[in-house]
Amino acid sequence: MRPLFIRLGILVLLICLALTSSLWLTPLLNFVTTNSATIQGFSNLIQIVLWVFAGLIALLGLREFRKRREEGAPLASTHESVVVGGDMEGENIVVGSAHIVGKEIESEGDIIGGDKNIAGDEVRGDKTVAGDEVRGDKMDISGDYVSGNKYIIESISPPKPGSAPPVPGLFIGRDEDLQNLKKRLGAISKGAKPSAVQVLTAVRGWPGVGKTTMASALAHDTHIAAAFPDGILWMSLGQKPNLLSEMAAWGRALGTDELLRAPTLKEATAQLTGLLHNKRMLLIVDDVWETEHAAPFQQACGKDCALLITTRESGIAEALAPPDTVYNLPVLTEDYALELLQKLAPEVVKQHPNESRELVSALECLPLALQVAGHMLNSESKMGWGVQELLAELREGAPILEAKAPADRIDLETQTIPTVAVLLQKSTDRLDEQVRECFAYLGAFAPKPATFDLAAMKAVWMVEDSKPIARTLVEHGLLEPVGGRFQMHALLVAHARSLCEE
Ligand SMILES: Nc1ncnc2c1ncn2[C@@H]1O[C@H](COP(=O)(O)OP(=O)(O)O)[C@@H](O)[C@H]1O
Ligand SMILES: [Mg+2]
Repeated sequence: MRPLFIRLGILVLLICLALTSSLWLTPLLNFVTTNSATIQGFSNLIQIVLWVFAGLIALLGLREFRKRREEGAPLASTHESVVVGGDMEGENIVVGSAHIVGKEIESEGDIIGGDKNIAGDEVRGDKTVAGDEVRGDKMDISGDYVSGNKYIIESISPPKPGSAPPVPGLFIGRDEDLQNLKKRLGAISKGAKPSAVQVLTAVRGWPGVGKTTMASALAHDTHIAAAFPDGILWMSLGQKPNLLSEMAAWGRALGTDELLRAPTLKEATAQLTGLLHNKRMLLIVDDVWETEHAAPFQQACGKDCALLITTRESGIAEALAPPDTVYNLPVLTEDYALELLQKLAPEVVKQHPNESRELVSALECLPLALQVAGHMLNSESKMGWGVQELLAELREGAPILEAKAPADRIDLETQTIPTVAVLLQKSTDRLDEQVRECFAYLGAFAPKPATFDLAAMKAVWMVEDSKPIARTLVEHGLLEPVGGRFQMHALLVAHARSLCEE
């Protein structure tokens, strides 16, 4: 959209031209013809055209002005400009097609970025609508969160209790999974036949495959919103959740503080059951590590509600949900994985297409690994340093383990971003010593790609029967059965090797 001041300039120019037309039009037309009737006719026509254009521009301007007045007049407003500065404060901050770059951007109302990006250490506002990019160290958007194409958040503040994390900044290659899950949840897309709601759906997959991201995409989906008119409740459990306070947060989201006073989990569950009765809501319980942690929500889930849980452990998924209700979220396809890397490090992928594809394949298309690698490659190439060496190093996985996870993996309790190794260690710390050692040995002996049969595992572990240990590793999501063999993801292989070195 053209900024107002350009329109105003054109309008003034058109009016000046129309008013002074008798001074410049006649001599000009004299060059073409000497016939005074023709000159008069042309002159009138051009004048009419000039006035019509001026009128149109004025009308459009007036319409936009009115629209903005209705939306609340912006106090801080920039148009097609770059604002670089300390703080920016206003009731509404509206930008035409510009960057706002400031240390603090604070708006009582909306922050509306046109085409480009809003960057700041802190971005605070009720509603953020941005064309391409919103970037900030800290985002505290207390009202609606309306996405542009890309959010880059260096560190995020916790979402409101009970509400889902923001729309994923990048969400690539998941159309099919999204459709499948929407179908299971009874939220169909246009034209499709209504399907029965699956009351409990468990999404499972490798650590870092994108379970949380998928769940938050579902939480912000319009079809899901239509299928669950009473809303969506979100909870991230983790390994040691405080279930009572998590339930109280849901109680609050449902408009009561009563649950805060519930003395026992049983009582809180009963109250929550009452609150959810006759409600059509989607309950999302992310990152479940123990079956008993999810049980109260299963119990409280009313007959019109649906429950979606995510877990990295197949043992948990199967214990909670019948096998046909478990959805295995796969890694990305190689093309989508390359697309993700290209979005994160465009210059590198452009300049090193073959090495980039090799990297994607070595990282076995795991979004977490690709995110970390993409950010590292991008900052290296921005520094103007050669990236060839880094591309080769990243293929081994070790630098990825040591790197910090992407900002959206922030640990809300400690407000710190863990390293990738810490994220993976959460799984291996749960194993008993013998099984952990077996897992580590598998890493040391892993072929590429890392698949093993029971006989190979028996040989590596030097045991009579490798089945029980293999079963435990599968239950913990550290091995995956594929066609009679067992696969270990490349990033887990790197983690297993690092355990061997300890
Ligand atoms: N489809 C995707 N496109 C782009 N990035 C993704 C996608 N899925 C996941 N990611 C990124 O990968 C990382 C791990 O995803 P996450 O959802 O936290 O994994 P999980 O919950 O399975 O452990 C996050 O930084 C997330 O932003
Ligand atoms: Mg997760």
